Amino acid sequence: MKNILSVIFVLIAGAISTLDAKPAPGVTRTTETCGDPTLAVPFHRLYDASIAHHLYCTGVANTLAFDNTHVWTYQALAAFVFVTQEESTVPLHQMVNPTTADRIYTTNATEVTALEKTGYGVAALEPGYFIYPTQICGSVPFYRLSKVAIHDHFFTASETERIAAIDSQGYADEGIAGYVFAPEPTQC
Ligand SMILES: *[C@@H]1O[C@H](CO)[C@@H](O)[C@H](O)[C@H]1NC(C)=O
Repeated sequence: MKNILSVIFVLIAGAISTLDAKPAPGVTRTTETCGDPTLAVPFHRLYDASIAHHLYCTGVANTLAFDNTHVWTYQALAAFVFVTQEESTVPLHQMVNPTTADRIYTTNATEVTALEKTGYGVAALEPGYFIYPTQICGSVPFYRLSKVAIHDHFFTASETERIAAIDSQGYADEGIAGYVFAPEPTQC
């Protein structure tokens, strides 16, 4: 049984890592004050159904292998982000609460300090993420939502998904975390 699971794991990890090579679709660099969109990498969404929590990462296989306290399953390509600080980008800090497993992605340094006082820590596994603080360079809003009752934060670049989360899944709107590249080409 364990061998079968390992084989399945390797197959899934292999299928997912092919996604890692995909450049941000439909975005071209228009000015030198923008980052180079071909350097952006997929930001994947994982989900643990047992606690209805979301996690975002660039290295799916590493995250699955590292975190054996949760049953993360692959859910979607959420966005494209930078993993090096490109022109006009700011760090997107990944904060995790070890008690609730809630993960908050924020560009707000004041919030990082405030979260640290309430038990959150900076998640160590992945490299830093960098996104735009305003809607420039072909970026789109990365909406932030939360469901306080279950300690989950949910992020999406899809307006449709954002509305569905608010209307039918009990999430509250928490504004915009920052600006990322859309997982699908955006309409102009
Ligand atoms: C940053 O976070 C602090 C603490 O949570 C909050 O009071 C402030 O309004 C935030 N700033 C912005 C620009 O969202």
